[in-house]
Amino acid sequence: MLNIVKQRTIARNIFELTCSGELVQEMREPGQFLHVKIDEYDDLLLRRPISICDVDLEKNEMKMIYRAEGEGTTRLSTKTSDTSIDTLGPLGHGFPVDEAKPGESVLLVGGGIGVPPLYYLGKELVKKGVHVTTVLGFQSEQDVFYEQEFQKLGPVYVATVDGSFGVKGFVTDAIDKHELSFDVLYSCGPTPMLASLTQRYREQRVFLSLEERMGCGIGACFACVCHIEADPDGVVYRKVCTDGPVFPVGEVVL
Ligand code: FES
Repeated sequence: MLNIVKQRTIARNIFELTCSGELVQEMREPGQFLHVKIDEYDDLLLRRPISICDVDLEKNEMKMIYRAEGEGTTRLSTKTSDTSIDTLGPLGHGFPVDEAKPGESVLLVGGGIGVPPLYYLGKELVKKGVHVTTVLGFQSEQDVFYEQEFQKLGPVYVATVDGSFGVKGFVTDAIDKHELSFDVLYSCGPTPMLASLTQRYREQRVFLSLEERMGCGIGACFACVCHIEADPDGVVYRKVCTDGPVFPVGEVVL
């Protein structure tokens, strides 16, 4: 169980939930997620996968960020401090932090609700002496969050689809406009964004975290299965919840 310390709105329908508990000590791999049970009602037995955004091991606190869109997450957004939530995790394989060596340049590319796990990753990279640049993509100005937090780690560029904030267009437009280059790229966001990064950077050191709708979160239900590029017949597959959510570029079919 995790205890809610604080909950606040940080953008349109986006909530930041700060929690504390012993489980925080297990959260040492950026890119992993928690499977959160919304409450005890029978109509919402399925848990919701929410990625870990920030961890403070000394204070025993962590932050997760989610979008309130369905009934479950909307219900979660009404929970106040001193409530406890039933949480399974941390689950999955996160980002390979050691791929980036001290002194190298990393580009973090986040889209929408894929942004949060990159923050914990960015903090760990900066601690190691890696240079971090961040590109964040959102629909509109009202959807932008964590720009200032990422600015503490290095330069930040924002793109919005409607052009109301930052560069007009997608993350790739911001990358082109500012002529950004990198040694290693880590990304999390919607599938079309990951597919576009794959097309551009297939031969480079790139790691992508997939956002998939999940069922069990522990490898038992096959709800999150995806095929791999090396097996065109589709016999071999990967489960996003246990094999991922992070995969090297070009491994899974997007
Ligand atoms: Fe059930 Fe991945 S969510 S196997």
